[in-house]
Amino acid sequence: MTTPHNITTVSIIGAGQMGGGIAQVAAVAGFATTVYDAFPGAIEKCKALHDKLLARAVEKGKMTQADADATKGRLTYSESLHALKGSDIIIEAVVEDTAVKKELFAKAAPLLAKGGILASNTSSISITDLGTAVGDMADRFIGMHFFNPVPVMKLVEVIKGLSTSEETTARTIALAEAMGKVPVPANDRPGFVSNRVLMPLINEAFYAWMEGVAEPAHIDEIMKLGCAHPMGPLRLADFIGLDTCVHIMDVLADGLNNDRYRACPLLKQLVVAGRLGDKSGRGVFDYSKK
Ligand code: CAA
Ligand code: NAD
Repeated sequence: MTTPHNITTVSIIGAGQMGGGIAQVAAVAGFATTVYDAFPGAIEKCKALHDKLLARAVEKGKMTQADADATKGRLTYSESLHALKGSDIIIEAVVEDTAVKKELFAKAAPLLAKGGILASNTSSISITDLGTAVGDMADRFIGMHFFNPVPVMKLVEVIKGLSTSEETTARTIALAEAMGKVPVPANDRPGFVSNRVLMPLINEAFYAWMEGVAEPAHIDEIMKLGCAHPMGPLRLADFIGLDTCVHIMDVLADGLNNDRYRACPLLKQLVVAGRLGDKSGRGVFDYSKK
């Protein structure tokens, strides 16, 4: 059977909160899915979370046990990059760092199946720049920006680089739809649309806290009850990861040549102290007793 995306095997680089979520959604949608991570423990944590979330979906009657078992059967976990060999698409979701991503893409590109696509889940980094890591395959390089938590959020921001072909874009849009998502295009500018707008709001909340405008819990309560945000901006920053927020602000400030996008000193200080948010157990708020 041919499909508009012509994809049967999906591979993910990075088994963190985004990579794990993308893998889950791909496997639920019927794709043979491989997740690769280089860091000890990351793969085990990702698999345990998949097992927990699929069991919860069965408990809640949102999925049959047979579908959950079939989904697990479509998932492969590996600590070897070589496991990605023959993939129709490789979606990268590692740390928001241009050099790390480029190095991985250069290594992963030769593993693709003929005509395969390379996609980055970057929050803010230039797709044109990342695409230079794969030489003459840059026409098959694209931004596929999922949102956190991936199984819940409907959006995929689709970003074409300067060299991305129309065919790659059409296939990526079709793939996002097959994964149950709503693809929306954005141009290749720092932070695209989502983080050009969201991240300065989050950064401003840190300034409001630093300047004593209100306590963190009150800042969040005001934005939740007064502006109907599902999470306050400081809670959301913890959820995203404070390190990721700083990386995104750096890309905005450097890419837009404007210091008004510089990360708030208090946000940077928390990262230096290892308070990264949910993933480290403490950020703005303390999650260690949960
Ligand atoms: N993984 C998978 N599913 C999750 C989840 C997670 N981490 N967290 C919550 N869910 C699911 C729950 O299982 C539940 O599913 P069911 O309805 O099927 O039972 C559903 O989400 C609702 O969860 P809860 O009832 O526990 O909690 P809630 O109603 O408060 O919703 C939330 C949780 C969906 C996270 C909501 O608070 C929300 O929408 N927050 C804002 C999230 C947001 O703004 N995301 C974008 C971040 S920015 C980004 O992603 C881009 C970037 O580049 C930084
Ligand atoms: P994370 O820290 O939860 O996970 C990153 C994973 O990548 C970790 O498991 C780590 O072990 C792995 N990794 C790091 N370097 C690697 C390497 N060289 N080789 C193999 N694996 C490596 O981060 P995350 O929140 O999942 O973010 C990943 C990407 O997704 C970033 O580019 C981020 O900007 C983007 N993003 C994040 C969010 C969010 O809300 N957190 C939303 C959308 C996009």
